[in-house]
Order: sequence, then C-alpha cells, then structure tokens
Amino acid sequence: MLRFARRLLSNMPESTVYGGPKPQASEQRVTINQLRQKYRRGDPITMVTAYDYPSAVHIDLAGIDVCLVGDSAAMVVHGHDTTLPISLDEMLVHCRAVARGASRPLLIGDLPFGYYESSSSQAVSTAVRVLKEGGMDAIKLEGGAPSRISAAKAIVEAGIAVMGHVGLTPQAISVLGGFRPQGKTVSSAVKVVETALALQEVGCFAVVMECVPAPVAAAATSALQIPTIGIGAGPYCSGQVLVYHDLLGMLQHPHHAKVTPKFCKQYGHVGDVINKALSEFKQEVGNRVFPGPSHTPYKIAADDIDGFAKELGKLGLEEAASAATAAAAADMETVGKTSPDTSSA
Ligand code: KIV
Repeated sequence: MLRFARRLLSNMPESTVYGGPKPQASEQRVTINQLRQKYRRGDPITMVTAYDYPSAVHIDLAGIDVCLVGDSAAMVVHGHDTTLPISLDEMLVHCRAVARGASRPLLIGDLPFGYYESSSSQAVSTAVRVLKEGGMDAIKLEGGAPSRISAAKAIVEAGIAVMGHVGLTPQAISVLGGFRPQGKTVSSAVKVVETALALQEVGCFAVVMECVPAPVAAAATSALQIPTIGIGAGPYCSGQVLVYHDLLGMLQHPHHAKVTPKFCKQYGHVGDVINKALSEFKQEVGNRVFPGPSHTPYKIAADDIDGFAKELGKLGLEEAASAATAAAAADMETVGKTSPDTSSA
C-alpha cells in the first residue's frame, strides 16, 4: 500500500535522463530477535556505520546485519577532530538518508553528545526523535555512569531498543584525557565488565566494546547474555563493527590518516580510487576530452536547428545562432559513432 502511494505521489526521475539507483530488494528488515538467534547460534554479527544514502545502499547490498548511524559522522563526514560537535538535527539528516538507502539491516542511531546527559526525560525525548524523525529502529548511547544506566532504562521502558557502548566512549574524551584504550588496569577492566552488565540489566539488547584488550572483551562476552559488538576489542566479541570510511580506506588526506585507528583493517583503498577518478575528470575537462560524443546524448533535429537559429537571429543573438549551427555541424560529424537519441527527454 505504502509502495503504491509512493509511486503515485513521488516525482520519480525519468530513466531516460538519470540512470538512478535501482529499487532495493524488498527483503525483510533484520530484527533484534534475529540478532538474538544469531548470537545464540554463535554466528558473528556484522555492523558497519553509514551516514548517507549511498553508504547505506552499499551496506544493504553487502548483507551487513546492523547499520549504525554513528556520531563518528562528526569526524569522518563533517571533518571535526572529535564526535562532540555534531547536533541532533545534523544526526537526524544522516539518519533519514540512511533509512532511505538501507531497507534490510537493523538501523541504529547514535544519541549525540549534549542531548541525553541532563535527565532521563531528555534522553527519552531525543531517542523518540531519532526513531520518529530519523527512521531508525533503535538507538545507541555511550557510557555507564548511573545517570546513563537510568537513561537507558527509561528509553527501554519507552519502548525503544537500546544498544550500550563501553570501553573507550569518544563522547567522554574530556574525562578520559583523549582517545585512550580502556580496561588496561585491573580496576578499569572490571569497570568495563560491570558497566556492560549494568546495561544488560536495564534491558539493552547489545553492547559495543570499544578499544579494550581482548581478554577484557572475552570476559565481558562470557559474562553477558546479550551480544557484544567489538571495535578494537579483539576477536572474542559476538560481533564486530567498523566505521565505513576507515574500513574502505576512504580518507587518504593526511589529517584523516592521522585519525584512522590502528585496529582498523582497511578492506579497500577507495580513497586512492576517488583521487584517481577526480584527477582524470579534471584532466579530461581541461583537455576538452570530456564530454565526448558518447556522453552528449541529447539531439535536436536539423530542421529545428535552422528554426532555432532563425529565432535567435530575430532576438539579435546572431553569435548564439552561429554557435548553435556550428555545434550542430560538429555533432553531425559524429553521427554514426553514437546511437541516435530517440527520446524526448
Ligand atoms: O559513532 C560510531 O561510529 C561508533 C562506533 C565506533 C561504534 O560509535
């Protein structure tokens, strides 16, 4: 029914003009229950961040289980040095774009810094906006201070699934003293496990473990009855998450190379591919190689060119008329090399 309404109401681009993305396969959305089943079977859960429509489409096509609209957007999309500056409104724009692109993975939206720390009711309001306005299925929040545990509880009680996040919680760099691994001392390691247990206790369905030694993540994974999703936490978690741009090797700029974490394996070197494509575009436009005949698809009939030139003449635009006639003559020389344009687009 919704699909039908969309077809009637939306002004879809014509395929003759834009070869736009194909509609996504209407596979069912991954649910929290399915993640639980995977966890019980011991099948690793996959999670990748996305921030816009194209990244969401790629994550969907790859069959990734969970798509996180992370506040890492502040760094990898907006170019900030930390995750702190991003606003809720900015996050919601990212969430909506991702929701349009990914129809299969479970969608989780991060609660941004400054929008859930003051009270549980502030946290619930923000979480509600992430679902209602951002189109997400669940939210993630960082930390395990008593107020965060209460906030997580209140959000779950409001009917919203919550993923916790322990270990290195980037929103807390002010008190952590920077992006520092956690759980490297006995007390810090115990705190990681206790915090994860407290989040489980109030109803979180999973917990991200960021930048902790593998034995600490292994202990937490063993102690919990919900999945742990590791990032820089070694192989013993129930699943793994990476940031899209890091995983793809997308940011080759020296600034970003500096912030690409050392635990991240780069599965691609997309940044090199992008740099090469942009340089080629620059060169081909500079040399007038692009657009060539095969990328100049729209034709106007010879009779219409004559009529057009006459009308331009009447308007006193003789030079424009000559330009049109010369371009049409040059175009004629290429006829036969390209397929004729038969559309009216
Ligand atoms: O914001 C983010 O991308 C995250 C992941 C690193 C888990 O929180």
